[in-house]
Amino acid sequence: MTKTTFPEGFLWGGAIAANQAEGAYLEGGKGLTTVDLLPTGKKRWEIAQGNLESFQPEEGEFYPSHEAIDFYHRYKEDIALFAKMGFKALRLSISWARIFPNGDDATPNEAGLKFYDDVFDELLKYGIQPVVTIAHFDVPLSLVERYGSWRNRRLVNLFETYATTLFKRYKDKVKYWMTFNEINMLLHLPFVGAGLVFKEGEDKNQIKYQAAHHQLVASALAVKACHEMIPDAMIGCMLAAGQTYSYTCNPDDVFEAMNKDRENFFFIDVQSRGKYPGYALRFFEENQLDIQMEEGDLELLEEGTVDYIGFSYYASRTASTDPEVLKNVTGGNVFGSIENPYLEKSDWGWTIDPKGLRITANQLHDRYQKPLFIVENGLGAVDEVTPEGEINDDYRIDYLKKHVAAMGEAIKDGVEILGYTSWGPIDLVSAGTGEMKKRYGYIYVDRDNQGNGTLKRLEKKSFKWYKDVIASNGEQL
Ligand code: BG6
Repeated sequence: MTKTTFPEGFLWGGAIAANQAEGAYLEGGKGLTTVDLLPTGKKRWEIAQGNLESFQPEEGEFYPSHEAIDFYHRYKEDIALFAKMGFKALRLSISWARIFPNGDDATPNEAGLKFYDDVFDELLKYGIQPVVTIAHFDVPLSLVERYGSWRNRRLVNLFETYATTLFKRYKDKVKYWMTFNEINMLLHLPFVGAGLVFKEGEDKNQIKYQAAHHQLVASALAVKACHEMIPDAMIGCMLAAGQTYSYTCNPDDVFEAMNKDRENFFFIDVQSRGKYPGYALRFFEENQLDIQMEEGDLELLEEGTVDYIGFSYYASRTASTDPEVLKNVTGGNVFGSIENPYLEKSDWGWTIDPKGLRITANQLHDRYQKPLFIVENGLGAVDEVTPEGEINDDYRIDYLKKHVAAMGEAIKDGVEILGYTSWGPIDLVSAGTGEMKKRYGYIYVDRDNQGNGTLKRLEKKSFKWYKDVIASNGEQL
């Protein structure tokens, strides 16, 4: 790579989420959130899809978010380690229920606000920019119980109040914001993405797309408010990305791949271009979906378009219409895909495709013509600690090295990228499975799937590698 690949000021760092790192699930006045009802094991997937029987944690189940990796009490130690790696940015989310324990309290919870003030101060002390996701997979449970969460229009204004409370409080500390994490996950994990719980016989698509409309309006309101309240900030959307390849050059397969991508682009088309795309309107009509919109909604969507496109990239996807090919399903970031015979897979069956990152970045940039921010990428793998206390995670270095190189190539292609925050710079709870053994970090956390361990932090081999990458601004891979 040439010396000019990564621009000056490129935001190297890592990304975490409140519910996967903080723990302290009832401390400081926090209310229960959706994720606090997601146990490890088989039930997790069922609940994540919106099949939930009770709104209380059940006896005998293990809920990994309750303690997570205890970032709530250890953030100073963890941030010092991020600073040691030379981080320029840390992406983290705020837990809505720390600020409004019931989601619609008359006044915000000062202890919750103070906690994030302290975290931001600690980051800024080291020159690390906070990049804040306003909602990352957790809705105050009280809103789910009383209003049915995002299926209810009320959530739009409650979210606006929550977002403006954050802008007001943190306007001098936070200059990079994001509204909803992986907003397209609402379609695949409706309880995780939007707190949706279904009753038998309900038209799930109707409810999901209605909830999507509410989130899109809420996102636009937050964007507008951010522009007004913090004019020198940038606020973006966040897509679980990864281009869908066509399995063959059969036009049916090509069309299928395009449609699979559009399922996801639907959200970003609205957030970035400010209006519902024609293919979505056709989909609503052909599926008899009746999306209730209030007067002024369409104008709001136009007025509240994002400044940048944040996205996660773990893998590309592949689509086919051939029933035989469709039998070869493999894992992926929540929604699986069919096997791509040209690519290898991780221990969890996720396809490994560095060039796909370059392709995806180009695809998104061509489509939206806005700066991109790669806010998640990484390899979930099992790590072994040697008797000497070392973790030699060469497989992770290999994965990241190739992806960073691919990102550099995308920049050379002319794609504007603000930064790269790899997922889980410190090991944390897996969103998909609830496991701890699916590790992404440069920093090892001594904790297992059942919650045993000292929570001690250890630097892995990749720690030093990433430190050098950052110090050389991506030149030394
Ligand atoms: C994304 C999420 O889906 O992928 C994260 O934004 C998540 O919250 C990450 O942790 C990796 O997925 P998993 O299932 O391996 O944790």
